[in-house]
Amino acid sequence: MMMRGHFITLEGIEGAGKTTQRDAVAAYLRDTGLDVLITREPGGSEIAERIRALLLDPVNTGMHEHTELLLMFAARAEHLHRRILPALDAGTWVVCDRFTDASYAYQGGGRGVPVARIATLEQLVQGVRRPDLTLLLDLPVAMGLARAHGRSAPDRFESEALHFFERVREAYLVRAAAEPERMVRIDAGREPAAVTADTLAAVRAHLAGAGLDASNEEVPVQGGARSP
Ligand code: TMP
Repeated sequence: MMMRGHFITLEGIEGAGKTTQRDAVAAYLRDTGLDVLITREPGGSEIAERIRALLLDPVNTGMHEHTELLLMFAARAEHLHRRILPALDAGTWVVCDRFTDASYAYQGGGRGVPVARIATLEQLVQGVRRPDLTLLLDLPVAMGLARAHGRSAPDRFESEALHFFERVREAYLVRAAAEPERMVRIDAGREPAAVTADTLAAVRAHLAGAGLDASNEEVPVQGGARSP
């Protein structure tokens, strides 16, 4: 019988290094012989990428917070049902840059949308489906924004003020503390190699927990890798 793939997501504020760590996770999984799909949210399918363009365009200032939330979940419905679930069913592991934790952090923490409204949409779009492992790349907001602002013209979210991202970070940390089995907090305020070491340790621990320690490496128990 074909083994179902696992769904791994990466989360964090702008400048946390998600793309670097996502690529490291995908390369590690491929090295262990697994099929891997790398994807992102909002986006990841044709229609969802069009919705992403609407969401990030700085021209769309003044978008109502409910419009933003609904567009996030509209994009997610497309992405989940057209790409993520078919891949998992086919035995492919999916490594996704952001997922529903970002809606709780940005629309919930950042914009102040009540959690219960987000949970209603999560239930509608996902049912009981949740990521198998979420890596939260956590770092001080000022450090993340300094990194992100050096990269390109700010999109609609990157244009937000510092205190918006403080609320986003806090909401992420609350979620990580509430779900320590799924969500691993990684200190991303260090040089990339140290962050990657902790990220891959968390992935190895997940593989071992699933009885899939294909790398033949010892699974280290790293003090800093789990959320407190
Ligand atoms: P990114 O791909 O550069 O991370 O940009 C995506 C932006 O969208 C980022 O600022 C976070 C935001 N976002 C939300 O606000 N809610 C969500 O549910 C997701 C997936 C992303």
